[in-house]
Amino acid sequence: MNVLLLGSGGRESALAWKMRQSALLDKLFIAPGNGGTDAYGTNVDLSPLDFEAIAQFVADNAIDMIVVGNEDPLVAGIVDYFAEKMPGLLVVGPTREGARLEGSKDFAKRFMMAHSIPTAAYRSFTAETADEGCEFLSTLRPPYVLKADGLAAGKGVLIINDLTEAQNALREMLGGMFGKSSATVVVEEFLSGIECSVFVLSDGNGGYRILPVAKDYKRIGEGDTGLNTGGMGAVSPVVFADEAWMKKVEERIIRPTVDGLIKDGIRYRGFIFLGLINVDGEPKVIEYNVRMGDPETEAVMMRIDSDLLALMKAAAEGNLADMELRHSPEAAVTVMAVSGGYPGSYEKGKTISGLDKTEGSTLFHAGTKKNADGTTVTSGGRVIAVSSKGKTIAEALARSFENIEKIEFDGKYYRRDIGRDLMSLESK
Ligand code: AMP
Ligand code: GLY
Repeated sequence: MNVLLLGSGGRESALAWKMRQSALLDKLFIAPGNGGTDAYGTNVDLSPLDFEAIAQFVADNAIDMIVVGNEDPLVAGIVDYFAEKMPGLLVVGPTREGARLEGSKDFAKRFMMAHSIPTAAYRSFTAETADEGCEFLSTLRPPYVLKADGLAAGKGVLIINDLTEAQNALREMLGGMFGKSSATVVVEEFLSGIECSVFVLSDGNGGYRILPVAKDYKRIGEGDTGLNTGGMGAVSPVVFADEAWMKKVEERIIRPTVDGLIKDGIRYRGFIFLGLINVDGEPKVIEYNVRMGDPETEAVMMRIDSDLLALMKAAAEGNLADMELRHSPEAAVTVMAVSGGYPGSYEKGKTISGLDKTEGSTLFHAGTKKNADGTTVTSGGRVIAVSSKGKTIAEALARSFENIEKIEFDGKYYRRDIGRDLMSLESK
């Protein structure tokens, strides 16, 4: 089959790498792709949000299936658009209504309440109810969690220790701190625990498969300090997400989510990303996303033994019933090499060398591009995800760290403590 993958990050590189291994795949196109995705298919200069241009490309190139990497096209309704315009085309992802699980935190909270899915207690406020919001904050214990309702490029969540500061921040958010995204603000109870990411592939008919669990590392600095980034690394598996814990996740969260979507009349044929937190052994939902995680995908794909393309096709067709998702017992990790200055301002266009010197790791390009003369240069904050497998997380990490040292570009930075928190749990 011919597939069009939308996106340009490390996640899309990993998805493309995995699809390339499928016997089902004829042609793979990546729009727009990056400096590494041309190893798995053909990069196409198309915006994932330009549905009309995508439709033309699909028609011209006999595309059978679109795989949507990031949330924006889903929130903008790409699944609904093609369901109407090209009903025979398979698209992996939820409808616009389903994408609200990520596109609106208030919607996600209401969904969880309606289906008794464990999550932090909350209330939502708008400019009209700002006084009530401040009052509500004064009934909570610090720290205070304030979330812009809409998409805010990962920056819409504030966690504040001081009550007055939190009340001021609530008023500022409602006053437009994140534009329209914070016209509604969710105020919620702070949950304390270790987070992890659980990915579920859903076929919209009650069938689902659970992918390997991963944990990502969001802060720029070692020891989880400094600013939030798109993700500095990830490891899989996650020691506390053992069989007993995953049984709770499946019974209390995954099934009610899948069934709740059906009850609410939402067609969801794609990846559900559960951002979970382990509160004293009990899983709770921090957030939903409607796509795979980045950089979790760069680790998770390495552990999937089954044909992911076949699984995605079955999900998009609404029939996962006979499909098996096998994964390796080995550990997989990814460590992200980023541009100096990221997530603040940074320079682009730095020549990357040493890519051919690495051994035993898989390099997933993220913010890279290939110049006309064939040199690969940086073109984003997160540059290359160095992914490795090993018998243990420690072994896999040693491989990634050894290889990331061989890759060079001006200003390169990476976190040397990826996975350390989990390894210390493991040895207890
Ligand atoms: P979100 O965009 O909802 O995933 O929030 C971003 C990050 O803020 C999460 O990954 C958590 O680390 C943190 N966070 C969000 N909600 C809570 C909460 N209720 N309690 C503690 N931390 C939270
Ligand atoms: N790694 C978190 C995300 O993709 O949102």
